[in-house]
Amino acid sequence: MPEITSSTGSADQPTFIIGNWKMHGTRDALAQATAIGLGASRLNAGPTCRDAGPVPPARLKFVICPPATLLSEMARTLDAGMTRGERSPVALGAQDCHWAPEGPYTGDISAHMLADAGAEYVLIGHSERRSLHHENGPMIRANGVAAGAAGLIPIWCVGENSRGEGFGPGFGDSLGGGATISNQLAEALPANPALPLIIAYEPNWAIGTGVIPEGGEIAEMAALLRHAASQRCPVRPEDVLVLYGGSVRPENAGAILALQGINGVLVGGASLTAEKFLAIGAEAISPAR
Ligand code: PGA
Repeated sequence: MPEITSSTGSADQPTFIIGNWKMHGTRDALAQATAIGLGASRLNAGPTCRDAGPVPPARLKFVICPPATLLSEMARTLDAGMTRGERSPVALGAQDCHWAPEGPYTGDISAHMLADAGAEYVLIGHSERRSLHHENGPMIRANGVAAGAAGLIPIWCVGENSRGEGFGPGFGDSLGGGATISNQLAEALPANPALPLIIAYEPNWAIGTGVIPEGGEIAEMAALLRHAASQRCPVRPEDVLVLYGGSVRPENAGAILALQGINGVLVGGASLTAEKFLAIGAEAISPAR
């Protein structure tokens, strides 16, 4: 059996707090983005940093993935909330992209267009795209390759449909127990993906349900994904960043973010209000961790 290490991901990377707004939000919601921008600045320049002199590189990387219709205006709004022409500490992401740079694809949006609108990241292969839009492995791979070519950082989403599917007997004996997610990863990842390599482990049964895996399950899946990715791509396990997503709330974020090998969270419902989203970020730097 190949040894699965439980490395924690690259130490110089910030903790990612990524909000997936899904199909929620009109221009009224830009006020939430402004509040997230102000809160993110405060969290990244906490009292310990102020006392220590110059503010160190951001410890928390906030990313909002709004509906594509809001990207351009949100980019402007976030930067307008800063003083002295600084860039906002909040980056923007898109929720999906098409594999072609342009063409006769009614209703689709290319990675290049998303980058032009202000996105820096893009979710690739989210379970709702897989189940509701029938995105399969080859399509997901092509979308991720297009994202990288357009200068976006893909966030590769994987997750099993039902609890236990990823943890069959034998998970500890072979990679077979995590077959669903390692297969999804093998189908999706190109040989040379855009870096940093970010994978979001999102069990479908945890999305929007309020039920989350045990901490040990999440940590084991993170180790499995890190190992599987490093087998497939020229990247060291410790340089693979693994996020957890599925019913992340302020109440459970601290425990999730403290897990071995978890570099951040992908948040759906609780990212729609600044108060909850920032509370999740605050958990990442809480002294209790
Ligand atoms: P949730 O969604 O936090 O509402 O469960 C997460 C996701 O689908 O990315």
